[in-house]
Amino acid sequence: MKVLNFGSLNIDYTYRLDHIVKPGETTSSKKLEIFPGGKGLNQSIALAKAGLDVYHAGMIGKDGAFLREICQSNGVHTSYIKEVDEATGNAVIQVSDDGQNSIILFAGANRKLTEDYIDKVLEQFEHGDILLLQNEVNMLDYLIDQGKKRGMKIVLNPSPYDRNIERCDLRKVDLFFVNEVEAGQITGKSRAEEMLWIMREMYPESGIVLTLGDKGAYYSDRTITYYQEAFKVDAIDTTAAGDTFTGYFLASYINDQSGKKALMKAAVASSMAVERKGAAVSIPCKEEVEIRLQTIE
Ligand code: RIB
Repeated sequence: MKVLNFGSLNIDYTYRLDHIVKPGETTSSKKLEIFPGGKGLNQSIALAKAGLDVYHAGMIGKDGAFLREICQSNGVHTSYIKEVDEATGNAVIQVSDDGQNSIILFAGANRKLTEDYIDKVLEQFEHGDILLLQNEVNMLDYLIDQGKKRGMKIVLNPSPYDRNIERCDLRKVDLFFVNEVEAGQITGKSRAEEMLWIMREMYPESGIVLTLGDKGAYYSDRTITYYQEAFKVDAIDTTAAGDTFTGYFLASYINDQSGKKALMKAAVASSMAVERKGAAVSIPCKEEVEIRLQTIE
């Protein structure tokens, strides 16, 4: 069984400020740092750091060569990453002194996927392989349909949630990763238990991972529901905490099929990512996570 992540690769321009800018306000930042990012790239690196073999597909421009390199140096298979004549996607990220963030995306090369490219990559995968997706690339509906047609298991993090998601047949998703904003948009509800309940009704065959930031996370499938509290840490930068959660949960779940264990590992790994600056560079490796786990268990 192989894992393919078809997702974004971004250059993150991260500005440190004492507070997130309000509408109409102009303010000076304390620092600008440039990091590798993109929900797709972060999740591939989290999977690889968690010890899983992962193939990444997606597009970069000439300015994005370092994104391919960081994937490679973390053990992600990169031969399907394609360079196109377009600027690499980027994100303008504000991080406040209390570690919260706000993100503006520029899709660039991430939204240049074509049917031909998708078909050629998917041809390399087969029944039972896993296709991990987020919503920072174009043709998400096509990716879901074609992946499912090949018998791949579809894992979707519908983030950021927008109209493209509404074009997708979400009944084809085998496992969802949603935060409370996305779950609220899908279900129209605001309480976590209600969101989970409605998602269970809407997608009875799917597994659902609902993350609630410092309020913990749920895993639910047709037979069982687990809750995991969040681990309290001093937040430096919450960027990629959700991506770290996704990567660690999925890697652990694939290895031993336990939603409970996977929630625990993912909660520990994402709390560690919050203690560090940046997106992909903040993701801990599995040895670090194991050491932290021993202090908890
Ligand atoms: O989830 C965090 C990521 O969202 C950042 O790395 C940024 O690039 C955006 O894709």
